Amino acid sequence: MNEKIIIEGGKKLRGEVTIGGAKNAVLKLMAAALLLDDICEIHNVPALADVKTMLEVINKLGVKSEYNENEKFIKIDATNITSCTASYEYVSKMRASFITLGALLGRCNEAKVALPGGCAIGERRIDFHIKGLESLGAKVKIEGGYVVATATKLVGSEITLDRPSVGATENIMLAAVLAEGSTIINNAAQEPEIIDLANFLNAIGADVSGAGSSEIIINGVSQKDLHPAVYTTIPDRIEAGTYMAAIVASRGKAVIKNVFPNHLSAVISKLTELGANVSIIDPFSLEVSCPARPKAVNIVTQPYPGFPTDMQSPLMAVLSTAKGISIINESIYENRFRQIAELRRMGADVQQEGSHAIVKGVRSLTGVQLKASDLRAGASLVIAGLCANGTSEIEGLIHLDRGYENIIEKFTMLGADIKRVKIKDTNINNVKNNKRKQKV
Ligand code: EPZ
Repeated sequence: MNEKIIIEGGKKLRGEVTIGGAKNAVLKLMAAALLLDDICEIHNVPALADVKTMLEVINKLGVKSEYNENEKFIKIDATNITSCTASYEYVSKMRASFITLGALLGRCNEAKVALPGGCAIGERRIDFHIKGLESLGAKVKIEGGYVVATATKLVGSEITLDRPSVGATENIMLAAVLAEGSTIINNAAQEPEIIDLANFLNAIGADVSGAGSSEIIINGVSQKDLHPAVYTTIPDRIEAGTYMAAIVASRGKAVIKNVFPNHLSAVISKLTELGANVSIIDPFSLEVSCPARPKAVNIVTQPYPGFPTDMQSPLMAVLSTAKGISIINESIYENRFRQIAELRRMGADVQQEGSHAIVKGVRSLTGVQLKASDLRAGASLVIAGLCANGTSEIEGLIHLDRGYENIIEKFTMLGADIKRVKIKDTNINNVKNNKRKQKV
């Protein structure tokens, strides 16, 4: 339904917030469960639209699932896979469903998955995925907007990625689990979500080592070596980073709970550099505060363990009121500055020059009507609204709901004046129709 967020800015965020499970880990674990012809359980599952979409995707493949949103766990029974096709309807809605390609190919020696296509932030190519699967012996063709992959037998091989692509690393890992022999992935992505996937695969009986480094080795096992498991996914480091950025932007002080600080080293380093205080309380929580106006800093987004591209737009909101000029270089995606136009409408002074954004900090932003264009740009607008003078109204919540669970409740707990309301139908004809309907 058509809703918007209304924020009265200027409140210092205080208190504590608990982080949910990692969106970009749990979606892959749900795909990995397709490899197991038995039941597994995944815990710490965040209540997100993308989780519900991925459930639809795997249920369409014949999987039986039970999702307990309150208890935050999913039971998945992939004993019988009745289809190896992930349709355009789902992949276009959520590109992460493209990760079923490697799992279906690994389990069934065939897969037909819609091309994910581009999205708001960039072209989102899949050439590394295809090259990796072909190295394992798959025949891959593009037909009618689908990637069609088949194999008589998948055989382990050594694959070197041109770039440490998260998705390509994951698809190759999934296809290699049941392949004959060993697979080595060089220049593999090192994100914590890759480690989480490897840990899940090993929990169900696979043999994966080296995850978290640039070289991952998957020794193929047979289907009978796989077995049920109960697994808990990692906390969402990007959700945590987003709340840290909001606390800093509001000049507040608060505790982040259910987080792995060691997953946020680059973010903590950058926040400290701009003047925030970040203290690690224990291996699962930290406190962040920023009493004074932040200083300008320069940012280059990099593959993990570098500064994460998913934190670029939330940090831009912080830097838009910092003291001085910050330069942000978005080196991962070609079009991930869509928040700039909206921030400028709030009074931010940000100029884009190719892959760089020059952010001249202003004293304050002004709340206005805003529209989110993608998930992290939406987060950036919420942060800007929280620290702006006056009222901000943010539409495009379909993007935020994909990656931030209970965002209103969590920010309200931190003392923000934030609410979610239905957008009144201003089109007079619809209003008249609605009134007429009410009379019937
Ligand atoms: C994952 O996307 C995340 N999504 C992204 O988070 C994240 O920004 C990204 O990794 C980088 O960290 C999920 O995990 C669902 P990539 P992914 O393959 O796997 C190019 C969010 O906001 N590339 O590492 O698609 C590609 O075009 C989302 O939560 C190729 O050229 O990222 C991009 O420029 C956004 N060829 C770069 O590599 C390929 O075959 C990074 O892509 C594959 C990728």
